[in-house]
Amino acid sequence: MSELKGLILSGGAGTRLRPITHTSAKQLVPVANKPVLFYGIEALVEAGITRIGIVIAPGTGDEIREAVGDGSVFGAEVTYIVQPKPAGLAHAVLTAEDFLGGSSFVMYLGDNLLRDGIADIVEAFEAERPDASIMLTPVPDPSSYGVAELEGERVVRLVEKPEDPPSNLALVGVYLFSPKIVEAARQLEPSRRGELEITEAIQSLVDSGGDVRSRIVGGWWKDTGRLDDMLEANRLVLDEIKPSNEGHCEDSKLEGRVVLEEGAVIRRSLIRGPVVIGRDAVIEDSYIGPYTSLGDRVEVRRSEIEHSIVLADSVVEDLPSRLEASLLGRRVRVTKSDGPARTLKMLVGDRSEIEII
Ligand code: G1P
Repeated sequence: MSELKGLILSGGAGTRLRPITHTSAKQLVPVANKPVLFYGIEALVEAGITRIGIVIAPGTGDEIREAVGDGSVFGAEVTYIVQPKPAGLAHAVLTAEDFLGGSSFVMYLGDNLLRDGIADIVEAFEAERPDASIMLTPVPDPSSYGVAELEGERVVRLVEKPEDPPSNLALVGVYLFSPKIVEAARQLEPSRRGELEITEAIQSLVDSGGDVRSRIVGGWWKDTGRLDDMLEANRLVLDEIKPSNEGHCEDSKLEGRVVLEEGAVIRRSLIRGPVVIGRDAVIEDSYIGPYTSLGDRVEVRRSEIEHSIVLADSVVEDLPSRLEASLLGRRVRVTKSDGPARTLKMLVGDRSEIEII
């Protein structure tokens, strides 16, 4: 067991995934039918880190507590820390000071997904004991992230969401810190977006001559904060699933890698993997195409769905055209009823997004 602690940040408001995040924490939106947050907990445990603090927001915290419990199903011991307002990543570190108790720690953003986990970087950190170690990856749009400028492996400059990025290396949402980061966070002033930025806290370690190292991540990385990234993460995870069938099929065809969870029923349908279909889902007279995850008890009838995520207890029926690149929340109903052609009838919540193509 590592003496490092883990700190998972699950407090953000999730504004870029509204309206799903009006009613649910973004970290609990499932990728291949598993909440994003669970991948982070598993990555920490796999790296030997079992004492984990999860920073939660007052609004969505209860749902996260309910989903993760005391952490024992993951082999972890979870402590919850309430961050009263979303005042930035460095503010979250200060909020967690008692939990951290002067230990070094891995900070993991609860909406991030890393294909190859973090065991390697944790091992290197424990051997070398720098003041901080960050993970980087080249991205096409560095202005959307924290960006690093390097000299070899050493970090010389970090900027948060720069207009004029000094490189294409984005900060991945996993950081390894010595307790020095807490003092650095305490000195910060709120940034332009009104937050205490962890990027600036790390920069101040660099400025005071600290040893800040970096590593380029090996496999893919996704920050699932936006719909397109969420669908892309779903695609990447589904690309590597192992097929299994605990469901029941009648007059149907399963092609490619398909996971049918317990009690799922498929009738007169074509399922073309990679696809995951949750427990007790019912699919009838339909086509479910590649890169689709259907949650527990989802019902699909006389419809076509591809490259989409549908959350638990939703119903899709009689769609006149294929549903693609979509994310449907929980208990959503999408149906077609009789009426004049080219008429749309909707009951849609605040800040929903509907595109008619
Ligand atoms: C945060 C960090 C940013 C980092 C990103 C990774 O951004 O501030 O430096 O690159 O996470 O996911 P945010 O998601 O708060 O916009």
